[in-house]
Amino acid sequence: MNTELLVKIFDNPIILAVSTAEEFKKICDEVILKKGKINIALSGGNTPKLLFEVLAVNYKNEIDWQKVNFYWADERCVPPDDFESNYGMTEKYFLNRIEIPVANIHRVLGENEPGKEAMRYSQVLRENLPIENSLPAFDLTLLGMGDDGHTASIFPDQMEIIDSDEICAVAVHPASGQKRITLTGRVINNSARIYFLVTGKSKSEVVKIILGKKNGYMKFPASHIELPDRELNWYLDKEAFGQSS
Ligand code: 6PG
Repeated sequence: MNTELLVKIFDNPIILAVSTAEEFKKICDEVILKKGKINIALSGGNTPKLLFEVLAVNYKNEIDWQKVNFYWADERCVPPDDFESNYGMTEKYFLNRIEIPVANIHRVLGENEPGKEAMRYSQVLRENLPIENSLPAFDLTLLGMGDDGHTASIFPDQMEIIDSDEICAVAVHPASGQKRITLTGRVINNSARIYFLVTGKSKSEVVKIILGKKNGYMKFPASHIELPDRELNWYLDKEAFGQSS
């Protein structure tokens, strides 16, 4: 599997967000022109907030949101109005500020029973996304990475989710015990494009191990994200790359 890693380092998270937004628009325009719509999987946490701000403010009228469909790479098993909800955060920073049809927003129902919701969301993806390599295929997946090298909600102590035959799985946050719904590694790796957005000093040690394929790098879920014969983009700020900003 020869994945070409494209690593870009930005001076700070704001410049990273601005550059990512430019790339995001280019990809949306290209895919919408070619396929009539674009299917995007978003991640949660804090890192995407800046990108969402830039998109909501600077690209409100620059992207044909009527043709953009949003899904989630993972979601916490909480109601949408819970402060922990990835959908709730995305709605607050982004979705509430652009003209996008409600029908284009495919949230994970975090309020549902986790096992049932993993099955339901898997079916949503099967029904709404093109199937390639027998799996739903996103046009673009935006990922973050935790300090422990997790991505989406695939944690180091649940590596079986990477190669699971399922489309979505129920994960458990190792520290809080919070249940999550996550895309499995095979579905993530079935995306046409993946962008890791990683900022902050706390990520730098794991980033160095993963990008340098240093001893033990495969114990981190993020190191198992690879795109056969396509570009895998790592967008880092200087701190995450281990340089002082
Ligand atoms: C989540 C995310 C998760 C996130 C990383 C990084 O549900 O928390 O999807 O995978 O991307 O934990 O989070 P930060 O951006 O807050 O560092």
